[in-house]
Amino acid sequence: MRSNSDIIRASYEAFHHRDHKTALAAFAPDIEWTHPDGMVDYGLGGTKKGHEEILAFMARARTVFSELRPDPQEFIEQGDRVVVFGVHYMCGARSGRSGTVPFVHSWRLARGLATHFTDIHDTALVRRIVEGDKSPVAELLETHDGYIRAHVVRLVAELKVGDLIGDGARDVAELATATATDSRALFRLLRTATGFGLMAEPAPGRFALTEIGAPLRSDHPLSVRSIMVIGGGLFGRVFSDAEHSLRTGEPAFPKTFGLPLFAYLQQNPEVGAVFNTSMAEFSRLETGGLVTAYDFSAFSGRRIVDVGGGDGTLICAVLDAVTEATGVVFDQPEVADAARERIAAAGLGERCTVESGDFFSAVPTGGDLYILKWIIHDWPDEQALAILRNCRRAMAPGGRLLLVEQVVPEGDTPHRGKVMDFTMLVVLGGRERTKAEYSALLAAAGLRLERVLDGPMDSSILEALPDGGGPP
Ligand SMILES: C[S@@+](CC[C@H](N)C(=O)[O-])C[C@H]1O[C@@H](n2cnc3c(N)ncnc32)[C@H](O)[C@@H]1O
Repeated sequence: MRSNSDIIRASYEAFHHRDHKTALAAFAPDIEWTHPDGMVDYGLGGTKKGHEEILAFMARARTVFSELRPDPQEFIEQGDRVVVFGVHYMCGARSGRSGTVPFVHSWRLARGLATHFTDIHDTALVRRIVEGDKSPVAELLETHDGYIRAHVVRLVAELKVGDLIGDGARDVAELATATATDSRALFRLLRTATGFGLMAEPAPGRFALTEIGAPLRSDHPLSVRSIMVIGGGLFGRVFSDAEHSLRTGEPAFPKTFGLPLFAYLQQNPEVGAVFNTSMAEFSRLETGGLVTAYDFSAFSGRRIVDVGGGDGTLICAVLDAVTEATGVVFDQPEVADAARERIAAAGLGERCTVESGDFFSAVPTGGDLYILKWIIHDWPDEQALAILRNCRRAMAPGGRLLLVEQVVPEGDTPHRGKVMDFTMLVVLGGRERTKAEYSALLAAAGLRLERVLDGPMDSSILEALPDGGGPP
């Protein structure tokens, strides 16, 4: 009878000869196949399950490495475990840089089949091989390719390719029929997406989502499908007119679409719905971190108003964290139904209401906490001030206000807020602000910036209190 070490040794040899069928025959159908989290950026980290996912992993690995050859050197067997010490010979597909990386592989077997595999290696070493040392021109060209990436990911998202593929893999011909696209052209789009790490091609013309591509599915818990559709699509078109903003300091959206963003969304409800979902997707990425970063428990039994609260994703998370509080989502009438639906789905209908109106005229009164997430950055100072003054006027005595924004650092420190700032200019004529600018804006509205807390994903939470003198 073959020992467990013999079984594992034979599967390394079969993989080496690209004889995947023989290699997989030694693996249980539901084998767990784990690589270090440090490889996630390349779509190669975490745990895969079953033969198909292993094949997708292999296909993905072939896009990252032009050579990847494990050389298992020592096998140690004990009970159902086999531990293998060896080195990987590897060459980065893009960098052309090669090197060796030691590994430890831990295998577990049951009844002659491998049920668990864990790969342990120095991922920093692998990263150096994959990335190589980029020349300044290579950096520049990669920046240039960014717009192509944005369109590739936008098209994959718009066509709902991720939803069609789901957990498995699908032939491009089927995908082309389902998306009413030319099969050859769709193949070329998806092949490009494999180069960006979004998809794998486990068999010729058959595509699967990688870990990086998985959030393009609408049903992924951290889906960003609508963000990709709006960013690359609606905003992408506006960015073609960005020069208008540079020449005039005004937003380019009205030049591209004939109306300011929010008026356009009102008149095009189907686009408005995707925009609102994209905002909810952003919020979903942040809510966990926000309710951890800010202690909402002080508002137990109090009334919390989310001004421009969109579909209510944030207020639902806040009310979940402070079970005794009540909430109000305030937004434009077009957004109210989506908010009601979400609140009902979260079982918060008793504690949270939806009010609609125009925050330039008034906001709901009597709130103990006013939250404005990604609202002030949409507007130039004059309009931003009008919204803040309305909040200040509406506040219950002792009330507070929270802004959730990306506070731009002074100087040339890289920060996502700077990308967002230019986007705000081009799309809305708004702006991200420095801490000093927020402080001045709040002061002009009769509010005192009390503290700035770090929030998730480069965001900041700015807490403000009414300044002594009452509303200006
Ligand atoms: C950038 S989104 C932010 C949404 C939400 N706070 C979030 O972070 O997901 C801006 C929100 O402001 C709302 N809005 C725009 N103009 C408004 C107005 N005049 N009155 C009330 N809400 C408005 C939009 O409908 C949208 O939901």
